[in-house]
Amino acid sequence: MRRDIADLFELDPALTHLNHGAFGAVPRSVREAQDQARAAVERAPMRAFRDELPAGLGDAREAAAAFVGVPTDAAALVRNVSEGVAVVLASLDIGPADEVVVSSHGYPTAASAVQARGATVSTATFGLGDDPRDVVAALAGAVTDRTRLVIVDHITSPTALVLPVAEVAAAVAPVPVLVDAAHVPGALPGLDVEALGVDFWVGNLHKWAYTPRSAATLWVAAHHRDRIRPLVTSWSHGLPFPASFDLQGTVDHSAWLAVPDGLAAWHALGGWPQVERNAALLRRGAEYVRTALGTPSPHGGIPTAPCLEVVALPPGVAETPEAAEELWQRLYAAGFVVPPVSFAGRGLLRLAAAPYNDEDDYERLAAALQTLLRAGSGAR
Ligand SMILES: Cc1ncc(COP(=O)(O)O)c(C=O)c1O
Repeated sequence: MRRDIADLFELDPALTHLNHGAFGAVPRSVREAQDQARAAVERAPMRAFRDELPAGLGDAREAAAAFVGVPTDAAALVRNVSEGVAVVLASLDIGPADEVVVSSHGYPTAASAVQARGATVSTATFGLGDDPRDVVAALAGAVTDRTRLVIVDHITSPTALVLPVAEVAAAVAPVPVLVDAAHVPGALPGLDVEALGVDFWVGNLHKWAYTPRSAATLWVAAHHRDRIRPLVTSWSHGLPFPASFDLQGTVDHSAWLAVPDGLAAWHALGGWPQVERNAALLRRGAEYVRTALGTPSPHGGIPTAPCLEVVALPPGVAETPEAAEELWQRLYAAGFVVPPVSFAGRGLLRLAAAPYNDEDDYERLAAALQTLLRAGSGAR
């Protein structure tokens, strides 16, 4: 670990953190800014809620929109991608007569949210080693005349692939597309959300953009904005999108108020050049681990995310969710925070690279894996 940088994040020095994408990590300066935002409310709650919050929340929402490169009237703040997905499903009034297409690499709670509304989930399947055209063909092939929405992950969680969302949107049109971009803000350069041709796009700021947790931005295409509603109706009722999402009753707004501080920290930590450095580090790190494990790259033509990549575990290792969980616990006990994933019957290990990582993290992980797997009980 680059200890000086890890200290900026208040990370436990006893652990090697190789899973930044899971829940992010909040720099100390951002945690302090959030503490100050909370303290300011406590000094005069009446003044804060009545007079100060509307402007502060508007500024935060606009900073988030600017960060992902969309117009300020096009994106609302939500607490997380899960909320963004729920907002879209509710606003489209998805119900029991409807079908929603997801992919086999999709984040499972999106499918749960569809099921919770009584709608049918239809899962499009493609392989880790496939090509982008297979992704497009799988998702387009799953669309029927009952399909009300296609949900596609921009960067997939179990496999860390960058999916061809614009091509998917073109292929499934006129069915609306919701992009689950949980891992994208601050992690995928060259983003042009409005050029993707999709209908909804929601990205977490609390994963790779260093804001406090409970901060995400939901972009909505112009032709849907009139019908998009927050889940909770409160003082912002009647305001146009996106201000309609700002005040949802008496809640702790400090995470949103500190969004500009988180984004400033992302820039201060190096911005896109830092992401490039992390991406190059991860490619080398993944190579160490693959070499130590003796496994080939599992990838075909679908690009992998800059700061997240899976490597294949040897046959027989972490092939079931239970075996992946067991290996996770053993890695954790050895001081490594890195998730084994059981995906389509094979074992993968998802590596991440953040500013606080260095080559030594992956070299030590590679050595630890050799020892753990030789000991054998990670295999199932
Ligand atoms: C692809 C993807 N979608 C959605 C989520 C859910 O994010 P949240 O828990 O912040 O709503 C995650 C979380 O890791 C994710 O990886």
